[in-house]
Amino acid sequence: MAPTSLRSTLSSLPDNAPEAVVDQHFSSHLLELLGFQSQEIHPQYPTGDGKAVDKAARKTVGDDVFLYTKSNPYLLLELKGRDCNLSSDAAQYQKAVKQLKRYLLAPNCKTAQWGIITNSCHIQLFRKHGRVIYPATHCLALDNENADKVVASIRKKIESPSRALTVAVYNNKGGVGKTTTAVNLAAILTFLGKRVLAVDFDPNQQDLTSSLGIPLSEGGVLEALTQRDIELLSTLHPYKFPLKRINSELRFDVIPADKQLVDASDDALRKLLKRNMLHKKLASARQEYDYILIDSPPNWRFFSQLAVYAADVILIPTKHNNLFSLENAAIAIKKFFPEVQAEKGDGSPIPLPIFFNGEKITPAQLAIAQQEISNIIKTAKKEGFDLLSYFYPRYTAAKKDLHIPQIPSYANIAGAAFSRTPSVYRDRSAHEYYKNLAKEYFLQ
Ligand SMILES: Nc1ncnc2c1ncn2[C@@H]1O[C@H](COP(=O)(O)OP(=O)(O)OP(=O)(O)O)[C@@H](O)[C@H]1O
Ligand SMILES: [Mg+2]
Repeated sequence: MAPTSLRSTLSSLPDNAPEAVVDQHFSSHLLELLGFQSQEIHPQYPTGDGKAVDKAARKTVGDDVFLYTKSNPYLLLELKGRDCNLSSDAAQYQKAVKQLKRYLLAPNCKTAQWGIITNSCHIQLFRKHGRVIYPATHCLALDNENADKVVASIRKKIESPSRALTVAVYNNKGGVGKTTTAVNLAAILTFLGKRVLAVDFDPNQQDLTSSLGIPLSEGGVLEALTQRDIELLSTLHPYKFPLKRINSELRFDVIPADKQLVDASDDALRKLLKRNMLHKKLASARQEYDYILIDSPPNWRFFSQLAVYAADVILIPTKHNNLFSLENAAIAIKKFFPEVQAEKGDGSPIPLPIFFNGEKITPAQLAIAQQEISNIIKTAKKEGFDLLSYFYPRYTAAKKDLHIPQIPSYANIAGAAFSRTPSVYRDRSAHEYYKNLAKEYFLQ
């Protein structure tokens, strides 16, 4: 039997329906329209850290029925009453998102790939990939007219998740370690068993391509970006690192920088290509790889914009002793990324919290950096932006934790390009630094 429309359910709900009423009359209908039957839904699912999420769901596989095994949920649903304001600039909304994120990362929810918050007037879908949680839709208003369509579009997303997390490495400031980060993260994630694609989207410098000793593309990338029937993956070049002792190798794939894009003016490029083109052209790669890492140039021009548009999340290297790198991070978060979000329309990409790259930090220098960051956060607040969590993700009212992850300055990281080998494959300390960075940001 075809599921019935949400229209009658929504119109039967009183304007001020509290959570219990939304739960009773709306949530099972919503989950049914998302493709889940009653045995596939667990109410008050214990997350494993002392709390319970309102609903968890997973489709039956063979005779493994979620309601009986009570493990490995696929989707979490956190419900609110209609008295809870979930429009995206409300404090209650921020609180609900935090709560959902906490549940998604809780011990019994490791397998969850999706989270939804709704009060039946608004709904938002979030994707979880490893440790990373990012919006898969904006916070959408639900009404009698659009509800079925909105829910159908959410169902489509949860039924065909992309395999990859796409990460753009970006800072408008030059020389902060974008390329080094992209190369070494690609290498360490590969070492940890992930399928990785690295994209050199800085054709003027071509650092990622040359640091791996890979030949430049001779027009192939440009061709793939401009011609509908040419796959971007047709331009890829594998990077292989032999593991002689076990007669094996590590391999990740690289889309090299394209010579023909050198010195192309933004105007000329804009006539050829739209901002969404790299994103579009990575569609099949999103199904093949676990991670797609895109290196971008130190400016907010054409290539950076395409890289950021293509990304789910943006990783921003900074230097603790370079004020511009910190200020640039703030400008990008306040201005550039929202511009792309508005155009893209699904709530992504979102910035990950910054990290410090290079140069040893003395306590005195750290105090100066914290003062600068505090000024940046204060200025942003006056302009209506809350940047706290992008600089200090662990900071709470109860625990004023000012932790910022760091890759220290290390000669063996800088020297790696000469040997055309990522430093994580040559040096134990570098290996540990980037493994910690990968764990901090990406791995569950
Ligand atoms: N943690 C580190 N320790 C030592 N050297 C580093 C470290 N990170 C980066 N470097 C070195 O600093 C220089 C700049 O790094 P990188 O090229 O990665 O920066 P970038 O942000 O990509 O620069 P650009 O803006 O020019 O693209 C390189 O010589 C690199 O080897
Ligand atoms: Mg670079």
